[in-house]
Amino acid sequence: MTTRAEAVKAVEAAHVLQNYKRHPVVFVRGSGSRLVDTEGREYLDLLSGIGVASLGHAHRGLADALAAQAGELLHVSNLFFHPLQGEVAARLARLSGLPRAFFCNSGTEAVEACLKFARRYWRSQGVDDRHDIVAFEGAFHGRTFGSLSVTAGEPYRTPFAPLLPGVRFVSPADPDGVRDAVTGRTAAVIVEPIQGEGGVRPIPQATTAAIAEACAATGTLLIADEVQCGLGRTGRPFYSAALGLTPDLMSVGKSLGGGFPVAAALMSEAVAAAVSYGDHGTTYGGNLLACRAALVFLDALGNGLIERVAAAGRRFRQGLDALVADSGAVHEVRGDGLMWGIEVDRTVADRAVDCALARGLLINRTAGTVVRLLPPLDISDDDIDDGLRRLRLALDDAGAALPAA
Ligand SMILES: Cc1ncc(COP(=O)(O)O)c(C=O)c1O
Repeated sequence: MTTRAEAVKAVEAAHVLQNYKRHPVVFVRGSGSRLVDTEGREYLDLLSGIGVASLGHAHRGLADALAAQAGELLHVSNLFFHPLQGEVAARLARLSGLPRAFFCNSGTEAVEACLKFARRYWRSQGVDDRHDIVAFEGAFHGRTFGSLSVTAGEPYRTPFAPLLPGVRFVSPADPDGVRDAVTGRTAAVIVEPIQGEGGVRPIPQATTAAIAEACAATGTLLIADEVQCGLGRTGRPFYSAALGLTPDLMSVGKSLGGGFPVAAALMSEAVAAAVSYGDHGTTYGGNLLACRAALVFLDALGNGLIERVAAAGRRFRQGLDALVADSGAVHEVRGDGLMWGIEVDRTVADRAVDCALARGLLINRTAGTVVRLLPPLDISDDDIDDGLRRLRLALDDAGAALPAA
């Protein structure tokens, strides 16, 4: 007899584009930091849908708010006003210091909008030759053409070349390279304050200082891509501020809807003033359901969630430091709050996710040798301790399962 999981996999194999190499688990429900598969097996989720399920799974307040909103009004298009977009924009403005928001549905669209608005800014100044962008090696900004053009990895880029011209990549470890690359022809510098897909690597302080200096000297706009590391993920509203950066534009997404697709490009008044009616737009962006989800998340953020992430981060840091001290295969831990990258031997990395699944744990591997953790922002201390225990077992399994050399 075919199991439910086998039936799901069979229909996907027949009809869904095969662009994701999925792990062989079929999840059917969740609660807090726990997920349950078709066989009724429970997993502890230290990934939260790659940093999206910020309030955990089946959050009561979010579910109730979405149900109530769906019963009232879902969508009216951006041709009309509705009561929630301005409210979300005002809250994001208070949090970021950037007074205007453009709403969209995904991180890549938020980055795309930032890139377009940066170009629009220079055009509106009557400057026609400032369209170059400086980006960073190791960066990931999304997969639509503009965002892909400032994403560094060749495997992402090469199959779709040619991409946007005029993008220059600099090593995050090369502050002088930043000073050289940013010129009077640069429209914007784009930076992830902590590179997420690149292996959870904070931009070094010397480089952020060089970015700030070069942007100030040339008038170049600064775009902070906070899609992954922003909105409380690191125990502070935005990591760019922690690095001493004051961006002109900022992309946010992931955590914002707690699982409902909503993202935004935030910007200064100077940039916003360059954008006219019809310059950019989207059918769905910032509809009532999306904004309702964002308000639930922003309520939680303003009611102690950021402080809770900071405390949870200290607990993780202790446990992960102990892991480094105890294991020859675990070399370094990077990150803050609830965004962690654990540098491991490549052979351990190859098996880590499968070994974790076997231990009932969801983690993720990125940048080849990095085990990444992005748990729900409201994960409990008990779940953190359970997660650290399972992670240790999984990494031991991954090391022990290697064939003898
Ligand atoms: C920093 C950053 N920017 C942009 C994106 C793209 O976001 P999305 O997948 O929602 O398009 C991601 C996704 O991982 C990201 O981490």
